Amino acid sequence: MNERIKVGVLGATGMVGQRFVSFLRGHPWFELTWLGASDRSAGKPFAQATTWRLDGVMPSEVRAIVVSESKPDDTAPQLLFSSMDASVATEIERAFAAAGHTVVSNSRNYRMDDDVPLLVPEINADHLRLIPTQQRARGWKGQIVTNPNCSTIVLTMALAPLKQFGIRRVMVTTMQALSGAGYPGVASMDINANVIPFIGGEEEKMERETQKILGDFVDARVEPLAARVSASCNRVPVVDGHTMSVSIELEKKVSETEIIGAMRGFRGIPQQKGLPSAPPCPVIYMEEPDRPQPRRDVERENGMAVFVGRLRKCSVLDYKFIALGHNTVRGAAGAAVLNAELMQAEGWL
Ligand SMILES: NC(=O)c1ccc[n+]([C@@H]2O[C@H](COP(=O)([O-])OP(=O)(O)OC[C@H]3O[C@@H](n4cnc5c(N)ncnc54)[C@H](OP(=O)(O)O)[C@@H]3O)[C@@H](O)[C@H]2O)c1
Repeated sequence: MNERIKVGVLGATGMVGQRFVSFLRGHPWFELTWLGASDRSAGKPFAQATTWRLDGVMPSEVRAIVVSESKPDDTAPQLLFSSMDASVATEIERAFAAAGHTVVSNSRNYRMDDDVPLLVPEINADHLRLIPTQQRARGWKGQIVTNPNCSTIVLTMALAPLKQFGIRRVMVTTMQALSGAGYPGVASMDINANVIPFIGGEEEKMERETQKILGDFVDARVEPLAARVSASCNRVPVVDGHTMSVSIELEKKVSETEIIGAMRGFRGIPQQKGLPSAPPCPVIYMEEPDRPQPRRDVERENGMAVFVGRLRKCSVLDYKFIALGHNTVRGAAGAAVLNAELMQAEGWL
């Protein structure tokens, strides 16, 4: 590619927005030139509009960019990543898509709409074929593509290699990081030395999104996976990284060696095409009896792989294991950037 594609971020001042800013730094295909947020931030240089909450300092190249209002105008680039508060995302993303922009969104608002791809490039790249239906039905020149909820993506990446064995039932219990709640998130008095066994709407999202992502594209629509999924979601005092304990029932009788082999051998279009943000091995199986752990493993592979370990027999379903992924990278900003890379590589931009 001779010239990089100019891109913007809606919700740039937030927790995920800052991840976008960090993740897009030095990207070989995309150049971050535009930042959007609420009226509270618009008109201010990025360095004044937000306090940098990630490790290290705010990248110098974005400090002086003046934050724009989140309204389509001549200044916003064609390709926009979105990490806006869900309370405002429906209208704003719709306005940009109607005005001809490609909106690659993290927000939950459009994920479950029948004509909107809920994309994990390694798993369901063919769901991009929903876009012509979306544009026809809504009269949009642009398009909206979404990535899953931050815990769902970890679960689906671990399950996708097992789809070939027929997934019947899934029980998942999560231990989710604080950064998943945005900033300032959960009050320290509530979470310090504690576990909160409730994250509003999260269990429903995990159950439904998993079925859509692992579903098949048939007759111009997505046929959800018929498996039953039951999720229990907990907030724990971890900064980054959602860990989950998963039990599965499969149609075929398979050995532990076959499951681990399927996970280790799992590859998708991002790996085949060598997309810039694709981890070489999207699912990494760890042999150590006490791994994966969020503090030790979540930053590996640039935060883009999912780590699995402790595969063993389950005395209720067939097998159980632990999975871990970076919630604001693979579960948010990195996921959206990989979505856009796939769209560029497959001619959807
Ligand atoms: N955190 C995660 O792990 C994660 C993972 C996957 C998906 N998500 C989703 O990503 C989205 C952002 O999450 P977050 O954790 O980054 O939240 P956050 O830190 O609270 O950031 C929210 C962003 O939305 C902007 N915003 C608020 N009101 C607005 C308005 N009226 N118009 C335009 N922009 C407005 C804010 O701008 P101001 O600073 O100007 O107010 C800020 O940039 C949410 O939909 C969330 O569900 C989050």
